Amino acid sequence: MAVLKLYGISKSYQEGANTVNALQQADLEVQAGELIAIIGPSGSGKSTLLSIAGALLKPSEGQVMINGINLATLTEKELAKFRLREIGFILQTSNLIPYLKIVDQLILVKKMSGKVSKDDRDFASRLLTDLGLADKLKKMPHELSGGERQRVAIARAFMNNSNLILADEPTASLDSKRAIEVVELLSQEAKKRGKAAVMVTHDERMLPLCDHVYRMEDGILTKQS
Ligand SMILES: Nc1ncnc2c1ncn2[C@@H]1O[C@H](COP(=O)(O)OP(=O)(O)OP(=O)(O)O)[C@@H](O)[C@H]1O
Ligand SMILES: [Mg+2]
Repeated sequence: MAVLKLYGISKSYQEGANTVNALQQADLEVQAGELIAIIGPSGSGKSTLLSIAGALLKPSEGQVMINGINLATLTEKELAKFRLREIGFILQTSNLIPYLKIVDQLILVKKMSGKVSKDDRDFASRLLTDLGLADKLKKMPHELSGGERQRVAIARAFMNNSNLILADEPTASLDSKRAIEVVELLSQEAKKRGKAAVMVTHDERMLPLCDHVYRMEDGILTKQS
């Protein structure tokens, strides 16, 4: 089953008199159980594509389908709910909330969509423990290293158990051992629980762990393997 389908996605940004064509007619399908990688130079449109796939940005042209739902048919309010429930996002910067303890960063995801149960709290601790953060649960973000904060962001993206996980350079601030662990975790999570995961990366060493590799160049997406 395709969790994510992008058809003919174009995006242009208006910069004064200039138009930047960030994406041109991109097509992409990601099946349940797959981890796919998007590589390509800086400024080629990778983050733009991920933001559109994650319903954070609207395309200028084309359709986005997630779990069979066409995002264009949802109102802003429905879209916000949909994002919360159906998408786990790992951004290029970790975006933790400065005044919340690490474990509460994860709990917040549940709070925003309803009540928090004991199981939710256990799940949050388990995720953080799996990512090597067992002794950091009660710490604040500023007490963690950049790589540790990135791992919290990854755990948070798993917290809502969404079918679609989008990761923008999730391993950028990690050493290579942790980087491989994180990508293996993404891959296992996809396989074991039938999730679809899309990862933007600059790191060639991660590609063998991915089911398919796409390359972005000047807003044009091509399948490499
Ligand atoms: N909000 C915006 N307004 C105008 N132009 C933008 C905006 N966001 C991105 N762009 C432009 O669109 C193009 C694609 O940007 P994008 O962030 O998608 O690249 P990227 O492939 O993620 O790069 P990097 O590897 O450096 O993160 C770039 O030319 C960028 O300058
Ligand atoms: Mg980017």
